[in-house]
Amino acid sequence: MVPRRTLPGRLADRPDGTFLDRRIDALSVDDRLVIARDDYFYEPVIEESKGAWIKFDGRWFLNFASYSYLGLIGHDYINHQAQRALERHGTGAHGVRLLAGTLHLHRELELAIARFVGAEDAIVYTSGYMANVATVAALVGPGDVVIGDVYNHASILDGYRLSGATVITYAHNDLADLERALRRAGDAGKLVVTDAVFSMDGDVADLPGILELCERHDAPLMVDEAHSLGVLGATGRGITEHFGIDPARIAVKMGTLSKTVPSTGGYVAGSSDLIFALKNNARGWMFSAAGTPMQVAAARAAVEVMEAAPHLTGELRERTDRYRAQLRGLGFDTLGSVTPVVPIICASAGQAQEMARLCQREGVFVQPIVYPTVPKALPRLRTIVNLSHSVDDLDHAVAVFADAGRRVGLIA
Ligand SMILES: Cc1ncc(COP(=O)(O)O)c(C=O)c1O
Repeated sequence: MVPRRTLPGRLADRPDGTFLDRRIDALSVDDRLVIARDDYFYEPVIEESKGAWIKFDGRWFLNFASYSYLGLIGHDYINHQAQRALERHGTGAHGVRLLAGTLHLHRELELAIARFVGAEDAIVYTSGYMANVATVAALVGPGDVVIGDVYNHASILDGYRLSGATVITYAHNDLADLERALRRAGDAGKLVVTDAVFSMDGDVADLPGILELCERHDAPLMVDEAHSLGVLGATGRGITEHFGIDPARIAVKMGTLSKTVPSTGGYVAGSSDLIFALKNNARGWMFSAAGTPMQVAAARAAVEVMEAAPHLTGELRERTDRYRAQLRGLGFDTLGSVTPVVPIICASAGQAQEMARLCQREGVFVQPIVYPTVPKALPRLRTIVNLSHSVDDLDHAVAVFADAGRRVGLIA
């Protein structure tokens, strides 16, 4: 059994320490208290995984914390293509993409993504985080305004900061507030950014309304499809397919290769001009090594699988809808979730942690999510459905959640 790397629950007593000692202590003071209370659930060290099951601390758990929405981790064809890339190109990248790092695999992946999401071209970064940070920072700068939903992912927020643009946030999915933000920005250059599916709540951005406002105020829109690729739309093409909207209306289509696509990396798809500009200005792409051959070949193979098996998204939706209806029927509050991210709202952070402990004791792995990741008033268990879960697995989990919910007094 591989031990978890947790820290002691006590601060070292070192008043005469260096600046770095004091800084390290200050950074971890709250988390050490959490560990001391035995409420630290994070970084379980997974030793093995098989489909929906993971093993850590020497025990097997049914995993409700995975983003592998279509259950493609371990898919034979994807593994095979990754192995072929390893045999042909080895493990490393030769450097950054602009110099010696671009393999045929990178361009094949970029063109496959562009075709899949309905764009002229795409750029592949080494993470979704980097795709957001580097793209936002390249597209807006001092004197411009970047406008975003208050629940946007941290990587988008970090892109705002790096850009030096003025930031205006609007209330979650609130069109009237977005319009106020657009008016406030006036004649400045503007970029509006929103997640397509919000990763903590599982709800969907009001794309028709957002696009209409953006077009009226001459503001291009960037959409983060991290949790909608493979999940929304009849064939998994994401939020534009979900609403029946022409993808060309979204100037900057961002997504990750670490969720539905079982690899790591991120992408931006859009016009050829946009991609050319990013490849020569997005610093997180220009000054960081290319993705490895296996990683990129696996992602490309996954796009092929999604094209060849468009029914998977519908199956995921059916299974998720049934599961969510059962939870709601039991009296759980799942907020506005309509996707495989299904939160179970708890009355307090302590109750969310107790629920997680009880579920884990019964072999169902879920994480409590509390402030500051989510608002103080909305602590939760975040459950995530994927296609590795059989209907029996889902029914079993619902029974475990129901039992835990009754024991902590969350449901009757
Ligand atoms: C909405 C959203 N955008 C971007 C990212 C970053 O993607 P990655 O984990 O591939 O770096 C995440 C990751 O969880 C996310 O949820």
